[in-house]
Amino acid sequence: MSIEKNKVRRKIEELKNLPTLPGVIRKISLMVESQNTSAEEVGKIISKDQILSAKVLRLINSAFYGFPGRISSITHGLVLLGFSVVKGLVLSTSIFDIMISKGMADLWKHSVGCATVAGIIARKLNQPEPEEVSTAALLHDFGKVVLKLELPEEAAAAEKIVQEKNIPIYEAENEVFEFTHSTVGNWLCEKWNLPKTLSAPITYHHQPSLSRLAPRQTAMVHLSDILIKAKGFGFGGDMLVSQIDKTALESLKITPQILEDIIINMDGGLDDIDESMFSAGSEQ
Ligand SMILES: [Fe+2]
Ligand SMILES: [Fe+2]
Repeated sequence: MSIEKNKVRRKIEELKNLPTLPGVIRKISLMVESQNTSAEEVGKIISKDQILSAKVLRLINSAFYGFPGRISSITHGLVLLGFSVVKGLVLSTSIFDIMISKGMADLWKHSVGCATVAGIIARKLNQPEPEEVSTAALLHDFGKVVLKLELPEEAAAAEKIVQEKNIPIYEAENEVFEFTHSTVGNWLCEKWNLPKTLSAPITYHHQPSLSRLAPRQTAMVHLSDILIKAKGFGFGGDMLVSQIDKTALESLKITPQILEDIIINMDGGLDDIDESMFSAGSEQ
């Protein structure tokens, strides 16, 4: 089966099945590009949508950002976390809605788990902006959601190949589409104008040695993706635990002792994750 890549790219960029996404994002992107915009003004736009802001706040206050329950408003979140992180969170909430409503709760769990572990790794390694790494991890597999929505038959064919050949999902996607969910993630990052610190880990989390622009963040997301799979937490499309890329480990200077500490810390962070953490936000 061969699919014309450009045609798929155009189709995915039109995003027929993600209607709530572009409106708010475009609005806040334009505001931020204008130099005079304050966090307060951007906060106001997000806060106008009460369901959206409740969900974003819920994510900001969840365990993986390291200040649970302490951020009371979107503006406060913007000041503390910066615009890229909040923009990533706005995107995440919309994508999570789709994951939950379209029967992809396991992928949601994998994503939130990966974000939690990425935060633990980033803090352990004294990364200057650990929240950004968590946000990249939160979004790292969103290409899978889009493939399932836009090309359901082909996505199902890739899942079947995973079962038959016992290979990772990205290899099966390559067989069917001649590209992977990471490629789709990259197209969407470009479309949504996400900074390199988010787009590089999303694009290269399966090939961290190719990430030139944000190699550390990419290596961290790569590692957290593998650790969360090894833990069996959630489901990202296959049950195989890939080898950790050697160059990624070396570039982060992770010793066996540091890795052990990270693995020990994982359990505590993952305890708080369940679907209510997300869906309760929509009740408000
Ligand atoms: Fe992936
Ligand atoms: Fe993943």
